[in-house]
Amino acid sequence: MNVDSTSAVAYQSGFGNEFASEALPGALPVGQNSPQKAPYGLYAELFSGTAFTMARSEQRRTWLYRIRPSALHPAFERLERQLCGGPLGPVTPNRLRWSPLEIPAEPTDFIDGWVAMVANSASEKPAGISVYSYRANRSMERVFFNADGELLLVPEQGRLRIVTELGVLLVEPLEIAVLPRGLKFRVELLDSQARGYLAENHGAPLRIPDLGPLGSNGLANPRDFLAPVAHYEEQQGPVQLVQKFLGELWGCQLQHSPLDVVAWHGNNVPYKYDLRRFNTIGTVSFDHPDPSIFTVLTSPTSVPGMANLDFVIFPPRWMVAENTFRPPWFHRNLMNEFMGLIQGEYDAKAEGFLPGGASLHSCMSAHGPDAETCAKAIAADLAPSKIDNTMAFMFETSQVLRPTRHALECPQLQADYDKCWATLPSTFTPNRR
Ligand SMILES: [Fe+2]
Repeated sequence: MNVDSTSAVAYQSGFGNEFASEALPGALPVGQNSPQKAPYGLYAELFSGTAFTMARSEQRRTWLYRIRPSALHPAFERLERQLCGGPLGPVTPNRLRWSPLEIPAEPTDFIDGWVAMVANSASEKPAGISVYSYRANRSMERVFFNADGELLLVPEQGRLRIVTELGVLLVEPLEIAVLPRGLKFRVELLDSQARGYLAENHGAPLRIPDLGPLGSNGLANPRDFLAPVAHYEEQQGPVQLVQKFLGELWGCQLQHSPLDVVAWHGNNVPYKYDLRRFNTIGTVSFDHPDPSIFTVLTSPTSVPGMANLDFVIFPPRWMVAENTFRPPWFHRNLMNEFMGLIQGEYDAKAEGFLPGGASLHSCMSAHGPDAETCAKAIAADLAPSKIDNTMAFMFETSQVLRPTRHALECPQLQADYDKCWATLPSTFTPNRR
């Protein structure tokens, strides 16, 4: 067990483990999941993240021992205030880039501050992703769960205290958090404001990728994933419980905190990961590997290697390749790439791609370094050099991502993105090799 040095929040380390935790001694039943009388008068409740009959290696489920069962709630009613972003806009094959969205001045909690950016699936489909930007300037006082998918949270500004049914996660920029589909949680701000990115994964739960010829170590190591320990609230009084169901927000009023799980065991858990612990691997000879070498987490499809969602990062790293065009090469891909920047600069773009901003390069759209970066890379002295002060990431997915109407109409959409390649000169000299 690791203890966060700044706050004494405790974690359990590992990925996909059968974790177990109890906030009161002996609260976990021994030898069975649902005894006639659970310890301390708790109710047993199964929280499934996968279908019951999935292969054992695919199963995600957790047994919860809680003060009141989740079933204790009145009818949900559709909320007047829905998520910002609206429906998907018209199809476009164009390369798109956005400047950072502003953090609102009016009181905005983590749910109010979602802005839908792109999506490739309706929420009821068991595949695809939706991508949001989040902005907040106050802590949630309500509790939320997302019936539409697993959430991958990528903070860019502001530290968060995420109080979940299974315990507390402290998450800051350069860390990520993953919250299983349906998990109840409240996001509190530890700074005056917060902003970041959210991938909503409608498909298979995220996992660490297989390593193939890399062997048994490298990339994101399992022990660096941290799950919480049990933590419960025994709070009376009205609490609003909000859920997102088929893209719409619905709410009901409870007379108790729904974050009342005293003990639990299982592998359907929230977790966090520090991106600075990623064991970055690259070439030590020439060229550079495909960016899949930077995959932190993946949600597979039924086609091997073709991801529903790959979460890929571009962290600080040494560049040592000889006789090599070192930036990300020019390319056209089958896959669709939504990119964001957490801090610093991205090595393929001289300007215009800012922390909190984003870009979208869809299936077969041609992209790569901008003209300035390209010219520098061709002229560069290829001594070993370190790319530092950077952390870009990509949500990569096999289905085309369509921007929302808001993403296409907001003032942050850069009208001149294509211009960053417009001055690429022809340097072709047919008479001189
Ligand atoms: Fe790309």
